[in-house]
Amino acid sequence: MTGKTPPADGTAPPDIAAALKALQDALPGDALVTDPDECARAAQGARYGDGKAAFMVRPATTAQLVSATRICRAHAVPVLPQGANTGLVGDSTPDASGTQAIVSLERLTEVFRVDLPNRSVTVSAGFRLSELNRRLEPHGLTFPIDLGADPSVGGMIATNTGGSRFIRYGDVRANLLALKLLPVNGQSDLLELSSAVRKDNSGLALKHLVAGSGHRLGIITEATLNLDYLPSQSATAMIAPAAEETLIDLVGALERRYGHLLTAVEAISAPAFAFAKSHLPELASPFHPEAFPPLALLVELSSSLGAEDLNLQSCLETGLADMYEKGLIENGVMGRGNDFWAVRHALTEGARAAGYVIGFDISVPRGAITEFRRRAKGFVEQGLPGAIVADFGHIGDGGLHFNVVCPFERPAERDQETIKSLRREIYDLVVLEFHGSFSAEHGIGPSNMEYFHSYKAEPVKRLEDDITRLFSQEYPFA
Ligand code: LAC
Ligand code: ZN
Repeated sequence: MTGKTPPADGTAPPDIAAALKALQDALPGDALVTDPDECARAAQGARYGDGKAAFMVRPATTAQLVSATRICRAHAVPVLPQGANTGLVGDSTPDASGTQAIVSLERLTEVFRVDLPNRSVTVSAGFRLSELNRRLEPHGLTFPIDLGADPSVGGMIATNTGGSRFIRYGDVRANLLALKLLPVNGQSDLLELSSAVRKDNSGLALKHLVAGSGHRLGIITEATLNLDYLPSQSATAMIAPAAEETLIDLVGALERRYGHLLTAVEAISAPAFAFAKSHLPELASPFHPEAFPPLALLVELSSSLGAEDLNLQSCLETGLADMYEKGLIENGVMGRGNDFWAVRHALTEGARAAGYVIGFDISVPRGAITEFRRRAKGFVEQGLPGAIVADFGHIGDGGLHFNVVCPFERPAERDQETIKSLRREIYDLVVLEFHGSFSAEHGIGPSNMEYFHSYKAEPVKRLEDDITRLFSQEYPFA
C-alpha cells in the first residue's frame, strides 16, 4: 500500500484538498469531476437520497479505479460506489456531510467477453443491462433479468435484484458465476471470487455474500454471468382473476400447467395502471380503462422452441380457457410477444408522477398475499385518508411493490410521524406476522436501515457486522 493508513476506527479527518491534488496527478482529466452541478446530480437518488459529494471520480479502467480508491483511502476520504444510480433505497448517493467521494462505475466498460460454449459473459461492472442485452442479441443470448429501470451490472449484483422473470430464471445471485471485488480494507487489490464454471464447491461461496451486500464489502468491478437463450416465441395475456381469495390458486394452476414455459406472473392493480395511463396517455389499455379489474395479472409464456414444434399462443389460450371454466379467471385479453410489458414497466414512473410515493418493497409467503393486501390497505385507509394504494409486482414470487401514493403535496413535516407509524404497522405485519421480508429486492440503504436494525435478530446482526468488518475493517465504508 502507498500513503498513510487511517486509524482502525476510521476517524482520521478526510483531507479532501490533498486527495484532489493527488487524484489530479494520477488520473486523466476527464476521470475527476468537481463541477458542483454534475456532483449534485449524481448525489440525487432515484427515490431517496439527496446528499452532497466532495467530488466524483469516473475511472475508465480497473487500474484507474484501484489507484483512485487508494488515494482516497490514503487521505481518509470515504468512497461511495455508484452504478447507474437507479436504486430505490438511497444506497448509491452520499450522505449530507460533503466529505464522501462518489466513485462512479459508469465508464468502467473495458471488458466484454462472450463465451459461447459456456453460455456466459464476462463483463465490466459499468455496463448497463440494456447495452449488455443489445450486445448479446446477435448471439441469440440474453441475461434474463427483466427490470423497468436500466441498472448497471455492478448495481444489479450489489442489490441482487430479482425483477419480473424471477419465477423462471431466479435473481441475479442465481445467475452469477463469478465476480471481481475491490475490497476497501487494503488487504488486496482485487479478489477473484469463483470462476466461469457452474459447478464449484472448492470453498465458501463468497460471491454469494457479495450479491445483495450493497457496497458494504467492496466495489464490484467485473462479473461472469450465466446467460440464457433468447426465446424464439412468447405469448402474453392480461387476466382478471375471479376473486382475490383464489388469486394464488390461479398462480399455482399456471405453474402446474406450464412449468418452465411460464416466464412471468405479475400483478397490476387498477390504481397503479390508472397512474401510469395518466402519465403516459399513449399507453395501450389492455382492458377498457374503466373496466380494468381491481387486480390484473400479466402472464407470459416463452420458449426457444419454434412455432413448428409448439404453438405457444394456442397453448396459453387453451390453458386460460380451462382456468376460466374452473372459475379461477373472470376475464382475459391475449397478447403476443412484448404486448403489455410497456404497461408493466410504466408503473413505477406513473406512481412517481402522481404524487409523493411511500414505497414498500415487501415479500410474504405466497399464501399470505391476499390477506396482507387486505390488512395493509386497512392501515392506509385509517392512517392516511386520501392516500391511494397503487400496488403491483412480482406476485408469482410473493413479492409486492406496495406503493402508497399521496396525490396531495409532499406530506408536511407533522405528517412524517404518521408515515413512520404506517411504515411500522405494515412492516410489523410483513415481518412479525407473516415472516416475510421488508426488503424483497431493492436491498438495504439509509431509507430502510432502521428496519434492518429492528427486525434482524441480534446474533445474526453481529455475524453480518463481523463479516463486513473482515472486508473493510481499517476503513469503514461510507
Ligand atoms: C419494479 C421495480 C420497482 O418491479 O422493482 O418495477
Ligand atoms: Zn420489482
